[in-house]
Amino acid sequence: MIGLLAGIRTQVQKELAQANDVASIEAIRIKYLGRNGALNQRFRQGMAQLKVEDRKQFGQAFNDQKKLIEGDLAGKEDELHQAELADLAETEAIDITFPGPPLARGHVHVLTQVRRQIETVLESLGYQVELGPEVETEWYNFEALNITAGHPARENWDSFYFSPELLLRAHTSPVQIRAMQRIKEPPIYIITPGRCYRRDAPEATRLPYFSQVEGLAVDKGLTVGDMKGTLLYMIQSLYGRDRKVRVRPSYFPFTEPSFEFDVTCGICGGMGCKSCRHKGWLEVGGCGMVHPQVLRNGGIDPTQWNGYAWGFGIERMAMLKHDVDDIRLFYESDLRFLEQF
Ligand code: DAH
Repeated sequence: MIGLLAGIRTQVQKELAQANDVASIEAIRIKYLGRNGALNQRFRQGMAQLKVEDRKQFGQAFNDQKKLIEGDLAGKEDELHQAELADLAETEAIDITFPGPPLARGHVHVLTQVRRQIETVLESLGYQVELGPEVETEWYNFEALNITAGHPARENWDSFYFSPELLLRAHTSPVQIRAMQRIKEPPIYIITPGRCYRRDAPEATRLPYFSQVEGLAVDKGLTVGDMKGTLLYMIQSLYGRDRKVRVRPSYFPFTEPSFEFDVTCGICGGMGCKSCRHKGWLEVGGCGMVHPQVLRNGGIDPTQWNGYAWGFGIERMAMLKHDVDDIRLFYESDLRFLEQF
């Protein structure tokens, strides 16, 4: 009668050998060990046929078989679990002792590079870097620079207003006044780099935000020659000794006389080409001898002192240095562009 139970375990083992997930193991458990499973059916069958004195031994055999089969099921489950872990170890293991991939290092933005180069060159001539606020008063941005209310030249510096008295500065020139007020006693030799704002739509040559570097020298008996020599030295230090410079008469309310300042085109060397619109020269900004009224507004006596000043666009200078033909590229954060510098 015990033989009645014997074949079951072999059958279970055969089926387990085919099983490769938890669900199939569970199905086997129900099929053989469930309340109406094969083992219980045989048990009931056997008990019904056996005499009372033989039942105990049969019951014992039943329990033994059940334990063995349970062991087989648990063993298979364990095996699956181990295999799963081994799989994970192979495909997803993270070795925390392994050195990570090297971090890509960024570098200083091309406009910052150019600004620093300008600072370095002028510092070597004794100029100091002076900074001023980007939110300015109407007085510093216009009035103190001799651009009085209603003056038509104000249109050239149309900016963004917070109120009639407060605006985003349209140029770095207001820092000339702030520097004179702070330093008080000439000689004054400063440069002031920084961001400026104007109500211009973005295009290849202008943006509503850009940077300038302003220079101011106040001393005794300064001449246009001193100014031109200083700027020539700066340009040749930045772009090479083969560059030429020129000044052209112009008009600014804060200088007298006033000039536009040009540098020979680096692409054609002054011969004229597409990128300088066949002029051979590129304009980088304005300059001139500081107007006596501006010195007075800065608290300096124009009968004792005089000065020169200039204001150049940093983007323009960077375009000139690297032959970039669209100012917007500097602010688009496209790494393909930025990584070239
Ligand atoms: N502030 C002028 C501008 O933004 C540039 C300029 C011209 C600055 C002549 C100066 C200067 O200091 O002397 O267009």
